[in-house]
Amino acid sequence: MKLGPIEVDHPFLLAPMAGITNSPFRRLMREYQSSVVISELVSANGIEYASQRTLDLLKYVESERPVGLQIFGEEEENLVKACQVVERMGANFVDLNMGCPVPKVVKKGAGAAMCRNPVELGKILAAMVKSVKIPVTIKIRTGWEASLRNASEVVKVAADAGVAWVAIHGRTRAQGYSGDADWDFIGDVKAKSALPIIGNGDVVTAEQAVSRYKTYGVDAVMIGRGALRNPFIFEQSFDLLEGRDVKVVTAERIIELLAKQRVYLAECFDSRGTLLHARKFLAWYSSGYPGAAEFRKNVFHIPEENALWDEAYRFFDASIRKRDMSFLSEPFLMGGHG
Ligand SMILES: Cc1cc2nc3c(=O)[nH]c(=O)nc-3n(C[C@H](O)[C@H](O)[C@H](O)COP(=O)(O)O)c2cc1C
Repeated sequence: MKLGPIEVDHPFLLAPMAGITNSPFRRLMREYQSSVVISELVSANGIEYASQRTLDLLKYVESERPVGLQIFGEEEENLVKACQVVERMGANFVDLNMGCPVPKVVKKGAGAAMCRNPVELGKILAAMVKSVKIPVTIKIRTGWEASLRNASEVVKVAADAGVAWVAIHGRTRAQGYSGDADWDFIGDVKAKSALPIIGNGDVVTAEQAVSRYKTYGVDAVMIGRGALRNPFIFEQSFDLLEGRDVKVVTAERIIELLAKQRVYLAECFDSRGTLLHARKFLAWYSSGYPGAAEFRKNVFHIPEENALWDEAYRFFDASIRKRDMSFLSEPFLMGGHG
């Protein structure tokens, strides 16, 4: 199937998340069937003279394709230059972050603040689209606040400017991460939209992913935090959509996933970076398994990588059959850049 101009296997994809959707995790999630991956947000201001840290954020490997690099900023000139840098780096598309609610970002007029002035926004988007051959996509929220939920107007402006698709996180900027994502609203926007619409927010099971896709008529469903506690969610959603049996998550399968992640992390980060990232992911993956609290404590105290992975393999091997899914209703990672 096609998502805008991009050929994809199915409509379920990983959401961009700062500090999380780095190249090793994107690579892993592509392998576990996220249909597309997108980098975390990277500042367009000064991307031309970027620091090594910024350039590192823009790196990807071939197996991630289709891969988009996400930028944020407020000045047309910088955003255009950033699009051109992303194109030169060979990414499949460039995504503009228009959903970030963080005060430091919106104060300058970037992130979610861009939706507040659709006329100005239209000019900026048109300039970005004109400046590159690769598709330009955007990720927005439903609006600035409850009284200004103008996503439909933003989608229209984006369509006129030549944007390829719009991903919508179903909350306003004012909501941050509180309340529920409003999928009825996303469905209404989709019904009026000339562009492909990707719905996003609070999808934590394959059943929800498929049901959101079918109920709201969206072109795709984007999953962020749900993938951190169930990294198999994309392949499960795809299987469910196609009417295939959903594969059981066995100890062998999760250990195989961990072993891959271990290699990809080590290829990208030094041993300290690998350790820090591994701890985070292992803590998330362990949600709901018996002994998870104890395991997390261990994970953050083990000072050495080999011992950490050994402990992880032991933990998942011992506990995999007894996951208690009630953790899904608990609040999780209630803050981020979109
Ligand atoms: C820790 C964290 C970091 C995030 N960073 C980004 C980001 O860099 N760019 C972006 O567009 N959205 C970002 N988001 C928002 C997610 O892409 C997504 O819209 C949001 O988490 C809701 O979807 P979910 O309920 O499936 O997680 C971030 C979210 C979290 C939790």
